[in-house]
Amino acid sequence: MSRSAHPAGPRHADVLPEGHYSAPAADLNELDPKVWAQTVGRDADGVVTVGGVDVKTLAEQHGTPAYVLDEDDFRERARAWRTAFGHDADVFYAGKAFLSRAVVRWLHEEGLNLDVCSGGELATALSAGMPADRIAFHGNNKSVSEITRAIDAGVGRIVLDSFQEIVRVAHIAQSLGKRQRVQIRITVGVEAHTHEFIATAHEDQKFGIPLAGGQAAEAVRRALQLDGLEVIGIHSHIGSQIFDMSGFEVAAHRVVGLLKDIRDEHGVELPEIDLGGGLGIAYTSDDDPREPHEIAKALTEIVTRECDSAKLRTPRISVEPGRAIVGPTAFTLYEVGTIKPLDGLRTYVSVDGGMSDNIRTALYDAEYSVALVSRTSDAEPMLARVVGKHCESGDIVVKDAFLPGDLAPGDLIAVPATGAYCRSMASNYNHVLRPPVVAVKDGESRVIVRRETEEDLLRLDVG
Ligand code: LLP
Repeated sequence: MSRSAHPAGPRHADVLPEGHYSAPAADLNELDPKVWAQTVGRDADGVVTVGGVDVKTLAEQHGTPAYVLDEDDFRERARAWRTAFGHDADVFYAGKAFLSRAVVRWLHEEGLNLDVCSGGELATALSAGMPADRIAFHGNNKSVSEITRAIDAGVGRIVLDSFQEIVRVAHIAQSLGKRQRVQIRITVGVEAHTHEFIATAHEDQKFGIPLAGGQAAEAVRRALQLDGLEVIGIHSHIGSQIFDMSGFEVAAHRVVGLLKDIRDEHGVELPEIDLGGGLGIAYTSDDDPREPHEIAKALTEIVTRECDSAKLRTPRISVEPGRAIVGPTAFTLYEVGTIKPLDGLRTYVSVDGGMSDNIRTALYDAEYSVALVSRTSDAEPMLARVVGKHCESGDIVVKDAFLPGDLAPGDLIAVPATGAYCRSMASNYNHVLRPPVVAVKDGESRVIVRRETEEDLLRLDVG
């Protein structure tokens, strides 16, 4: 992730400190379409607009900080995944990236399915009218009540994550007089090239049942014997923010290998495989993500090739992108507060949010971009660190980035590509209120998740 660092013209430093940053862009006013939502641009006054609404108006109407989500961009990305995979495959949007009722409705309208991993996500999906049979239910520790609700609602599949869960789900399904469609999640032993906390296919971790040592085969053996279960396939999710397709290739090879063993042992060809989500997006101009049609082509080819050589019917493929759909569609809009230049180091730019609205920098050392959005500036670039208002020195939103040297309190800045895992991982740390999600489209903005209020906080605190 690290980059070379020989930028020119910083305001507060003759010698630049160590860091992960590229030289400043030739023009800091330019907005790289790779990291910004599709309808983002600047108006004649240099103010950034999205969905036909300018950020000053958004800040006036909705306050800051706020997540601003480009609805057309979301729908287009969802549709691009749907179209790329065609009718012989299913796209399950991973709700953990960001879920709200408006999003569920957009997904439904665009023909996507939904992956949920908790009772709360399931409730959101059902309350917004997602048909239960288009919902997949995930998780390594689903509770009995969550499983019961999911089966009762008629979810299309439950992804079984352990030996205990195989028995538990079968038992609950039977007691409800149902036969539940299930997939079995396996770990294929791939080391995905991503942050350790978001890699999920190596064996030493909590998700799935290892392929190694015949454990996955044993899980299938047991599941096939249980009346409450209809085993429809095998699931593998290798991790997140992955650019390199080779991990998926190895995973597909090993999953198909298991399908072949199942056919040979049980005479059953399981009809589905799910290759999970995890496709990376551009957080900075240095990231080069793949397009959905390239990913679909690569995955379909791998699975078809592997099945042909194993003489298996090609199963129906499903994928579960979260970040790749919602991530690029939103930015976080902040107002600049205190600015603190530290000579020889960098300038600390404080904003009115922080690690409570974006924990990813602190947790995964994630890199983000940032831009001045309420005006343009021709001032010299300064090396900045965008920090929040929390009582913690690790409260960093953007670790190293260039902003114009004339930045001042009251300016609006925005951090792009915060649609995924920012609002969904937001907290109340320091009793800072979680920001709203504002959707913009055709010159209108509307709140889809409202800002938290002090009354909300106090209502939970029952004294
Ligand atoms: N399917 C399964 C089974 C998953 O566990 C995940 C993500 C996905 C799909 C969606 O992955 P995506 O396409 O969004 O990468 N909080 C971390 C990411 C954790 C992902 C957990 N599982 C982050 O902020 O990077």
